[in-house]
Amino acid sequence: MSVENRPWVEKYRPRSLNDVVNQNAIIKRLKQFIIDESMPHLIFAGPAGTGKTTSALAMVRDLYGKKMSLNNTYLELNASDARGIDVIRTYIKDFAKAIPPIDVPFKILILDEADNMTAPAQQALRRTMEKYTKNCRMILICNYSNKIIPPIQSRCVVFRFSPLNKDDIKNRIKLIASKEELNLAANGLNALVDVSRGDCRRAINYLQSCGTISKKIDQEIVFRVAGEVPPDKIKIILQNALEGQLQLSIKLLNELIKDYGISGRNIIRDIHREIYDLNISENLKIELSKLLAEFEYRLSQGGTEEIQLQSLLAKIVLLQNSE
Ligand SMILES: Nc1ncnc2c1ncn2[C@@H]1O[C@H](COP(=O)(O)OP(=O)(O)OP(=O)(O)O)[C@@H](O)[C@H]1O
Ligand SMILES: [Mg+2]
Repeated sequence: MSVENRPWVEKYRPRSLNDVVNQNAIIKRLKQFIIDESMPHLIFAGPAGTGKTTSALAMVRDLYGKKMSLNNTYLELNASDARGIDVIRTYIKDFAKAIPPIDVPFKILILDEADNMTAPAQQALRRTMEKYTKNCRMILICNYSNKIIPPIQSRCVVFRFSPLNKDDIKNRIKLIASKEELNLAANGLNALVDVSRGDCRRAINYLQSCGTISKKIDQEIVFRVAGEVPPDKIKIILQNALEGQLQLSIKLLNELIKDYGISGRNIIRDIHREIYDLNISENLKIELSKLLAEFEYRLSQGGTEEIQLQSLLAKIVLLQNSE
């Protein structure tokens, strides 16, 4: 695949720790390890698309520079490679055992997606980790650190990656959009940040999908590509119901379902996301939240979507009247 055809998440994957955004405290400590040329075994844990794999690879690159191309400086294994107990006992053990090339302080073994290694395979790693620490340090990457067995956790320093904050995703997306010569409207940028929910990979992927549709990217395109309803539309339906306009809110809801083809449960989830931003009393928010819980349950029990959603709106209208 030519460089240009690569997905943008790969094309714009930070190559050095300097370019990784948001995880400042973690990056600072990783950089110190590189300066000291020494580090403990590490676990990177955290949600998807927050820079775990990126940071591990960037660290190897920053530490070794040109020496990265030497055989046997680092090894990256992920869920697509066999990592059963036999591989741990043979291949991985041999890698850890071999003395690092000259000028290389220690080798690095990256075990990506380590949370789906079986417990016996993890057990088999325990002794190798200890015995060959001098030659080889390990970075285990996982979404949930509780999937890593306690004896391995106790041999590692755990770094917890957090979802990226809005500003950092914004800056990253702006940078990519300008390099790709896209015309990204301000509301398009905000929409991308909204639908990404702290996952930088998702934001970049949606940006690329939008880019294939049009060079000018606005809120409408983003929500369409992401299969989500713009929050404004949900808000208007809710406000109308709260003002007692039952017919109008039902009409708007039906149009929304027709245009976006979303399920009743997703509508309830979207309404739920909006209620805390509404300018209404706390009591009303509590009542709304109870209602949504009730109707989510009804739908899960097989209630007809149209009837349940209309009944939900009717109850919201009644809520306001009883205030
Ligand atoms: N902190 C970050 N700074 C800059 N870019 C980032 C950051 N986090 C993620 N990205 C972008 O998102 C892409 C995916 O990130 P990465 O592969 O590091 O995710 P991950 O944390 O390993 O997620 P997963 O748990 O799904 O494997 C990267 O290629 C990069 O473009
Ligand atoms: Mg990863």
